[in-house]
Amino acid sequence: MKRTVVLEINSQKPEIEKIRIAADLIKKGGLVAFPTETVYGLGADALNPKATLALFTAKKRPLDNPPIVHVSDADDVHKLAKTIPSAAKKLMKRFWPGPLTLIFHRSEIVPSVTVAGLDTIAVRMPKHNVALALIRESGCPIAAPSANLAGKPSPTSAKHVLEDLDGRIDAVLDAGSTSIGVESTVVDLTIYPPQVLRPGGTPFEVLKKVVGRLELNPVVTAEKALSIERMRSPGLKHRHYAPNAQMLIVEGEVSAVVSKVRELVASYLAKNCRVGVLCTNETIDRYRADVVKSLGSRRDLTGIARNLFRLLREFDLEGVDVIVAEGVPVEGLGLAVMNRLRKASGYSIIKATSETT
Ligand code: TXA
Ligand code: MG
Repeated sequence: MKRTVVLEINSQKPEIEKIRIAADLIKKGGLVAFPTETVYGLGADALNPKATLALFTAKKRPLDNPPIVHVSDADDVHKLAKTIPSAAKKLMKRFWPGPLTLIFHRSEIVPSVTVAGLDTIAVRMPKHNVALALIRESGCPIAAPSANLAGKPSPTSAKHVLEDLDGRIDAVLDAGSTSIGVESTVVDLTIYPPQVLRPGGTPFEVLKKVVGRLELNPVVTAEKALSIERMRSPGLKHRHYAPNAQMLIVEGEVSAVVSKVRELVASYLAKNCRVGVLCTNETIDRYRADVVKSLGSRRDLTGIARNLFRLLREFDLEGVDVIVAEGVPVEGLGLAVMNRLRKASGYSIIKATSETT
């Protein structure tokens, strides 16, 4: 166990002395959690193989799942990538800094452990002053997976980081809650047409307008676990975002969903389970269970994305045995939300139809 230092820092105008403390730790090969606009990341010097290896150990992350490498300037991609396709240039110009990660063929300077032995690399420029200041002051690209234990929901606050990693990392920069709440969208530009490997903070519809041809990898919309061959992103095959409780997702038209959720809650309560319901503002009054939480309004998928991981963690703290969750529309940030919910449930998806009401 090490002592994890907590440094409270201003999210807009980060205090330089705190950034220096954190950057010195990174330069020495240490691990520092920091906020981005999406979720908190756990950072290490991406060019130091020992430091990146320590990232995997701290998170208990499988060694075959590479982290995203974060830069503070789009020009830094030239050092990390072999070539920058024209579609990438367009995307970087339009969406960086921001919640978009791009996959490139990697250059020789990137250590093998940083990319889990692949010949490609995931790069992004985050839109958060603390993250950007830390990368600049450290003087190196920063490898940073989400700062949670492998398999757990990603952290949207420093408190979540400490729940998982206190005593396992050197420091956390605490700048309050993150604004987007789901991770960046990952786009693979090493194939044509480019593919979204993970839906995230930059909606597919918006990306497509800029690059024209863009496809969704089958895992993005999967409603069941797919074979490993179909997954281009190594992280996709591991269980993710999972709360301790068993989770069920009920999808369909809202009134049918409400009826089905009520039916499931009743059957679990009858079995003496402690039952949680994850629902929306429009439906919350329809449920009685041990713990009922709303993600927000169904009309505000951005707000729902912001609350998702925090609520999944809260259910764990409440010690529920089962969570019955409503699905939301798969448009805008809703695609990222549903991808996380489906995975968190281990693809326990129930389709509600009006016949069952
Ligand atoms: O918003 C985010 O992306 C956050 C913040 C901290 O920036 N980071 C994050 O990192 O979510 P992580 O490591 O939890 O997720 C990285 C994803 C994984 O699904 C991983 O498999 C994929 O990116 N990935 C990384 N390198 C890849 C590569 N070379 N090819 C395909 N997928 C890759
Ligand atoms: Mg992660």
